[in-house]
Amino acid sequence: MEILQSTEEMIARSRAWKAEGRRIGLVPTMGYLHRGHRSLMALLRPQVDVLVTSLYVNPLQFGPKEDFSRYPRDPEGDARACEAEGVDLLFMPMTFFPANFRTQVAVSGITSRWEGALRPGHFEGVATVVARFFGVTQADVAIFGEKDYQQLAVLRAMVRDLAMKVEIVPGPLVRDDDGLALSSRNVYLTTEQRKRALTLHQALFAMQAAKEKSVEERLALGRRMIDCDQLDYLAVVDADSLEPVEQLQGPARVLVVGRYGATRLLDNVELQ
Ligand code: PAJ
Repeated sequence: MEILQSTEEMIARSRAWKAEGRRIGLVPTMGYLHRGHRSLMALLRPQVDVLVTSLYVNPLQFGPKEDFSRYPRDPEGDARACEAEGVDLLFMPMTFFPANFRTQVAVSGITSRWEGALRPGHFEGVATVVARFFGVTQADVAIFGEKDYQQLAVLRAMVRDLAMKVEIVPGPLVRDDDGLALSSRNVYLTTEQRKRALTLHQALFAMQAAKEKSVEERLALGRRMIDCDQLDYLAVVDADSLEPVEQLQGPARVLVVGRYGATRLLDNVELQ
């Protein structure tokens, strides 16, 4: 596996691959890789000629009071994980944005609720960095986890609206052995917080199983079960538009964010 830290070299490399007619796959990450990230690499590996994983803690998507400076980092462990998953090139840019960068990609509508409402500017930061990763790597296909369900929806909208030449593939949410959704941020949790955090997926699964109950009753059930310091939201939404639904008609999703101290944990399940 090769490691590149220069964005110019990455651009030159992907141009050469393209000229050779190779199919390029991209797994964008912010590092501190766990089995959730690795599952995305494993899913994409057989679909492409060259597999690139990017590792960049993107300052644009963190708010001023968020955890950018203390975001967990382990570049050596990450390189070992990528190597084991058959990644051809690990791209860890030292500087990713050119001096004088002045472009922002903003997807409206689907960003107005949930994470978008609670983290102003977050999805603009995500869309902008991912658009640049697509340009730099010239990826034919990129994979994003359903763990960040709204992020996946936002990026799908961006690719469609701007007719970007990249196919977006979703990867299923991967859980730890105790059921907690894997996240780089789980390391922030104390033992006690982690124990209480298990009520998040337990509530989602109970809501999923309560097939005879109405949306309102399922939400009440979920709220009773969840033990967190603050429930940012628990919502049943349309799987495509992410608008809240009052009755189940088509595919739906339950989205939840609970806070444990300063740590926000996201989870979601399919409803229908
Ligand atoms: P990061 O949080 O590092 O996640 C990288 C990718 O891994 C995302 O597509 C995310 O949805 C996926 N992922 C994380 N935990 C997962 C889990 N438990 N199961 C399955 N997939 C999981 O998401 C980002 O980075 C950034 O916003 C990024 C897209 C890289 C842009 O900066």
